[in-house]
Parts: sequence; structure tokens; C-alpha cells
Amino acid sequence: MRNAALAIRNDSVLKETKIVARPLPLCSEINLFLLEEDYPKEPVSRFEFNANIASPPYWAFCWASGQALARFILDNRALVQDKKVLDFGAGSGVAGIAAAKAGACTVVACDIDPEARKAIQANADLNQVTITTLEEIIFSDQDFDFDVVIAGDVCYDQKNISWLSSLALQCFILLADSRVKRFPEDLFTPVARFKVKTVPDIYESEEFNDIIIYNSHVKDYSGPALSR
Ligand SMILES: C[S@@+](CC[C@H](N)C(=O)[O-])C[C@H]1O[C@@H](n2cnc3c(N)ncnc32)[C@H](O)[C@@H]1O
Repeated sequence: MRNAALAIRNDSVLKETKIVARPLPLCSEINLFLLEEDYPKEPVSRFEFNANIASPPYWAFCWASGQALARFILDNRALVQDKKVLDFGAGSGVAGIAAAKAGACTVVACDIDPEARKAIQANADLNQVTITTLEEIIFSDQDFDFDVVIAGDVCYDQKNISWLSSLALQCFILLADSRVKRFPEDLFTPVARFKVKTVPDIYESEEFNDIIIYNSHVKDYSGPALSR
């Protein structure tokens, strides 16, 4: 299935590639509009490379961490049931969609990329769940009102790690990152591990397919004990 509203930008090396609805290998409950597997893999010009780096279409991939988080949430539904959930740096919205399917009372998916916010809405419709999108979180916002924050593969930006760390004592955080394997032990505990690839496959080395999920040690979290 195609979605006419979703397309890769014209200056991107991926522009000829179709966006199609695809099932996820680790989460058969979820389908997402993503790049087809047969995207161009030849070397690219500097212009094309720079265009992609300046504004990468992250939303057109389901990153390994997002898929692992989605699986973990679907297997541990009580963690999000009746909770207000934020999917921070949502990309395709995969983790937020899992939270909505698992019974979260509200899901907000935040992404600075307007194309990602379009993709999140299309993916929410595809999976028949309701998600509100948000452009950005004001890191100093005193009115921050979420029970659970999910963050997958957003730690390439140091500001995001700092913010998640500052939030870790007041909010239940589920965090995973293919590039960052360890987080401060006084704030985050490893709770699950998955072998999973980004969809479509971007042929990363094996270490980036080894995903560890962490949760924050928030003291008054009223969810259940973790099952993994
Ligand atoms: C590598 S993608 C991961 C997407 C998704 N979480 C997943 O695991 O598939 C990172 C996403 O985070 C978004 N992002 C990064 N920093 C952000 C911020 N400070 N606020 C909102 N979105 C952010 C990017 O636009 C991008 O869509």
C-alpha cells in the first residue's frame, strides 16, 4: 500500500524510492510506511550526500532501537497502560504506536522534522490508533506532564541525552540507542536486549543491531515489575 502524502524530498538521493506499507519483523502487530527494501545503494555525489546529511529522512526507516522498544512495550503492556506517554524523537512513530496499542491513555509523538510528523499521522491511521504530534519539547518546561517517555536512537544529539538524564528522577523513561551502549548507572538500568536490524536494512555492523533497553529508576512509578 502507498500513501500519496508521504514522499522523499526532491534533492535526496533516495527520491526515486517508493514509500510502502511494510510489516516489521520483530513486531508483526505494526505496519509502517517506510522506504522499500530496494532503495539506491550506489555511491552518491557530494551534493546528494550533503543534502541527505543536512536533512535525513529518518522517518522513512524504522530504527533498530525503535523496533526493540516497540516489542518491549507490546510484551510489557502494563508499563504504559492508562499512562500519558511521550515518544520523543519519534521518527516513524513506531514506539508511540506500540504504546497506543498497549493501552496508553494518551500518546504524544514529538519530532522536529515536519515530514516525520506527517509520517507519524499516516502510520497512526494505518495502525488504527490515535496519536497527537508535537514539534518540540521545551527542555525547561515546568508543565511537563507525561508519566512515561520513550526515546529510541535520539542520543546522537548530546542535548537529548542531557535532557533525558535530567528527567530520569521524575519520570519513567524507556531508552535505547544503537550507538550508545551505556548510560549513567545511577539513573538508568538495563532491562532487556534484542538483536534487531533497521528496516529497510542499512547494512550496519552487528554491534549496531544489538539493542539494550534501559529504564529510569523513578521512585514513585506505579507500573508493574518488569518481566524481562
Ligand atoms: C534516528 S531517528 C529515530 C526515530 C525513532 N525513534 C526510531 O527509533 O525509529 C531520530 C529522530 O529524532 C528526531 N529528533 C532528534 N532530536 C530531537 C529533538 N530534540 N526533538 C524532537 N525530535 C528530535 C529526528 O528528527 C528523528 O526523526
